[in-house]
Amino acid sequence: METTYKKVLIITDTQVAPLYLEDVKQAFSSQVTVDDYVVPAGEASKSMEQYSRLLDACISLQLDRKSLIIGLGGGMVGDLAGFVASTYLRGIDFVQMPTTILAHDSSVGGKVAINHPQGKNLIGCFYNPVYVIYDTDTLLSLPLSEVRSGFGEVIKHALLSDAEWCDDLFQVNVSKLSPEQLNLYLSKGIQVKADIVEQDEKENGIRRHLNLGHTLAHALEAELGYGEITHGEAVALGIWFSLRASEKHLGASLPTEKYAKWLIQNNYPIHLIVNINKNRIIERMKWDKKTVESQIHYVLLEAIGKPAVITIEESKLDELLTDFLKEVSQIDERN
Ligand SMILES: NC(=O)c1ccc[n+]([C@@H]2O[C@H](COP(=O)([O-])OP(=O)(O)OC[C@H]3O[C@@H](n4cnc5c(N)ncnc54)[C@H](O)[C@@H]3O)[C@@H](O)[C@H]2O)c1
Ligand SMILES: [Zn+2]
Repeated sequence: METTYKKVLIITDTQVAPLYLEDVKQAFSSQVTVDDYVVPAGEASKSMEQYSRLLDACISLQLDRKSLIIGLGGGMVGDLAGFVASTYLRGIDFVQMPTTILAHDSSVGGKVAINHPQGKNLIGCFYNPVYVIYDTDTLLSLPLSEVRSGFGEVIKHALLSDAEWCDDLFQVNVSKLSPEQLNLYLSKGIQVKADIVEQDEKENGIRRHLNLGHTLAHALEAELGYGEITHGEAVALGIWFSLRASEKHLGASLPTEKYAKWLIQNNYPIHLIVNINKNRIIERMKWDKKTVESQIHYVLLEAIGKPAVITIEESKLDELLTDFLKEVSQIDERN
């Protein structure tokens, strides 16, 4: 790859580095100085501590405005490296090289962030990469749990857009996906997201639809501890609740049974929410950054392809969540 940058810093994690770091370094090293910084794999690295260490590294490597930061890895690395690039020297260029299914989604839309112990992505900004470099061959080394995780966002895109595509996805066994299928679903998902983001870059309106399943997901991730459940698995469970809530609160007619069956067949970790502390989850949902003046704004579906942002009172949310958790524990006992 040709470059006019003088220095390049590749940020990656301990699981991706042994697989792809050397290849990427080689691609640049004949033209520029290339350094790397490897953070521990896992969501816990999207932290103030790693952010601070990375800034120390940028300064000691004397990166300047003609330098480039590359985020090589999944959504965790993308969000962390992007946030470093967005703030160092008030912003230097940033390239994303997504290596997970989920990162194909997260590299569209320009959101970068780190987590706070109180909640996901509470510290961040909008900052677009100058390029996104896709190599879907890297997805072949993904563990099954990460394919499952990535599918949480894929199915979200289908529910936001297209009933036929949903039916197609409900037939998918995530452990037996062909590369062709994966490529097709990834590009469809990116298209759905890009269409929405194009209309509402700063999330004042329809971009909020992309948060389908995320209010509960973020609460689950923070409550269980970052890294105990993958982001996409949490989203998949959060969507299940959103579907049930849409039926009960809006009278929508949705394929919730089919969806739940698909989750179970594909081993989504429903057991993790059986004994969850409901009151703490509600507190966390209120804390999620999508909350405005204590009213919980929830993305529900009037139908497949017809999302809406609905205000839910806390007492109603409590009732919906109580019923949902009861349903999940009954299903968990049967399986
Ligand atoms: N910015 C956005 O718009 C946006 C959107 C969705 C999600 N996100 C964020 O993305 C993060 C989740 O992303 P993720 O699911 O990619 O998690 P991740 O980056 O933690 O990657 C998951 C695991 O897979 C490993 N891995 C990555 N690529 C691999 C490969 N090719 N082969 C083998 N192992 C590989 C990683 O080392 C890690 O252990 C969350 O922090 C979430 O908040 C951001
Ligand atoms: Zn997400």
